[in-house]
Amino acid sequence: MLRTHHCGQLSRDDLGKRVTLAGWVRFQRDHGGVLFFDLADSHGSTQTVCDPEATDREELARLERVLNNIGREYVISVSGVVRERVEGTEDPRNPTGEIEVLIERAEVLSRSKPIPFEVAEQKTSLLPGEELRLRYRYLDLRRREMVNNLRFRSRIISSARRFLESEGFMEVETPMLTRSSCEGARDFLVPSRTMPGQFYALPQSPQLYKQMLMVGGVERYYQIARCFRDEDSRADRQPEFTQLDLEMSFVERDDILALVERMYAQVWKEVLGQELSVPFPRIDLRDALARYGTDAPDMRFGLEMEEVTDLVKEAPYEIFQRALAKGGVVRCINLKASLVKEGDLDGSVGRKEVDRLIEWTKAQGMGGLTWMRMTPEGLSSNIVKYFPEEVCSALAERMGAERGDLLLFLAGPRESVLRAGGQLRLKLARDLGLLQDKGHQFVWVVSCPLFQRDEATGGITSFHHPFVRPVGDSLPEGEDCEGTVGHSYDLVFDGSEIGSGSLRNHDPELQRRVFRILGMDEETVRREFDFFLEALEYGAPPHGGIGMGLDRLCAMLLGCESIREVIAFPKNKRFQSLVDGAPTRVEEAKLSELQLLCLADEEEED
Ligand code: AMO
Repeated sequence: MLRTHHCGQLSRDDLGKRVTLAGWVRFQRDHGGVLFFDLADSHGSTQTVCDPEATDREELARLERVLNNIGREYVISVSGVVRERVEGTEDPRNPTGEIEVLIERAEVLSRSKPIPFEVAEQKTSLLPGEELRLRYRYLDLRRREMVNNLRFRSRIISSARRFLESEGFMEVETPMLTRSSCEGARDFLVPSRTMPGQFYALPQSPQLYKQMLMVGGVERYYQIARCFRDEDSRADRQPEFTQLDLEMSFVERDDILALVERMYAQVWKEVLGQELSVPFPRIDLRDALARYGTDAPDMRFGLEMEEVTDLVKEAPYEIFQRALAKGGVVRCINLKASLVKEGDLDGSVGRKEVDRLIEWTKAQGMGGLTWMRMTPEGLSSNIVKYFPEEVCSALAERMGAERGDLLLFLAGPRESVLRAGGQLRLKLARDLGLLQDKGHQFVWVVSCPLFQRDEATGGITSFHHPFVRPVGDSLPEGEDCEGTVGHSYDLVFDGSEIGSGSLRNHDPELQRRVFRILGMDEETVRREFDFFLEALEYGAPPHGGIGMGLDRLCAMLLGCESIREVIAFPKNKRFQSLVDGAPTRVEEAKLSELQLLCLADEEEED
């Protein structure tokens, strides 16, 4: 080794030891001839010092020849003796802050050009634009925050691996050059040289391979699986991302949920040093939509929506009547006075804030927001006169309204009301700081439909993917299929979907029927899925599994705004890899070999 210790290791216990450190020169300063170099590596930083008073003159001349030519981010190695820092110069924020290394020998291992941004800067918010960070990602990764992110991610993965191995899971790598598994996004295609005009697809997930592993008798499979999806860019999406993917044979839904809960409990204990409360709560998709307005509910705070259409349908209040006449609904959120802390919105949500909420709701595409406040005399507001007393009492009772509570009503088409209500909940939680010190919460969203209607085409599509087994192992004929519930489960963490799984169709006939309901004709099914249906015909065990987004989980646990912060070399919003410039044009000869030359010709014509 080129070093005896790393740069975050030395302490008072090492005083007097002769050591060798190697690392990057992060700071250097000259205090009246005493030269200080902060040497950093991925573990930390140590102050090293060239002190003329403590160094023999000949040695000093030799040392200065090296040290005077050192610049920022040079890689150097220094040997010397650990000594106490001068009283008053200790740095209590640094674990090595009580000591320094008196340099006896120094060597430049590698030089650095002037750096394009401050590697020592720890706060992401003070850094230059992300594009520059991504262009010089190797420098960005030297920052403590980024190293810690990657180390955290690695610890999560290794803890999950240990757990799964201890439960008898086998890690199997599935191919990267595959055919499309119809996971719902666009594929990244790779041209075949040996089969001109034909393409592989990079896997959107290992879905079909893991199912074929079950047919192959693997029984318990897992993989830290790279997935590729060409879909719209978002802060929580990357075209290339990682799933913790697993599949099990001879299990029922609850066996898989319990296993995942045990896995996270262990990961929490090992990596975060915290007890995780299991089992995770479960909620039916229908309830999640009705109460939280989303399929990925954040249930760490209340503010649930309640249906009040039945109570207000007779009230001569025009806004509600207009919505109801068009088949719409009215839903209500009780903003409890107890949630509004002193200092937030003056201890109560006053008229001004309500007006702002109304404007915000309009910006969400709703007609507005109706409100009533609970007073000692009952519900009050400028429109309460349209609501008979018994309606007000019934509303107050259903909403559990207490003095000072503010009832917020949304009226309109069901879907829009639920969506806007869900957004309103989140806005209120953010504005009122309801998430502070709330910790984290996992929730299973279960009982999702197998199919849904595509709004654009009017056709039937899968709610998840086509391989989910229907509850009851049967499918109704024709149009009724929309009500069919699948054995599926989404894992939601603090209001974001971080995993999705299901029991699968191991009966090839049932799987064929799903394809038919999805509108695939015999020819398409034969062309796209014959290989898979045939595998199911050779004794497929009942099986199920789950795929969990590792990047998302790590980013959320670390409080990062984007999953790019936990990926070593992520793509930017245009899916470019700025560090190496991919994607790039390729030489004509390569295109010709792949029989794709027509593309080059077209570019030239352009
Ligand atoms: P699904 O498509 O729901 O299921 O994906 C599983 C989880 O992967 C994460 N994820 C993403 N993370 C980052 N960037 C993306 N573009 C991205 N897309 C998805 C999410 C999501 O919950 N084969 C099934 C799993 C199964 O049924 O076993 C699948 O891939 O956290």
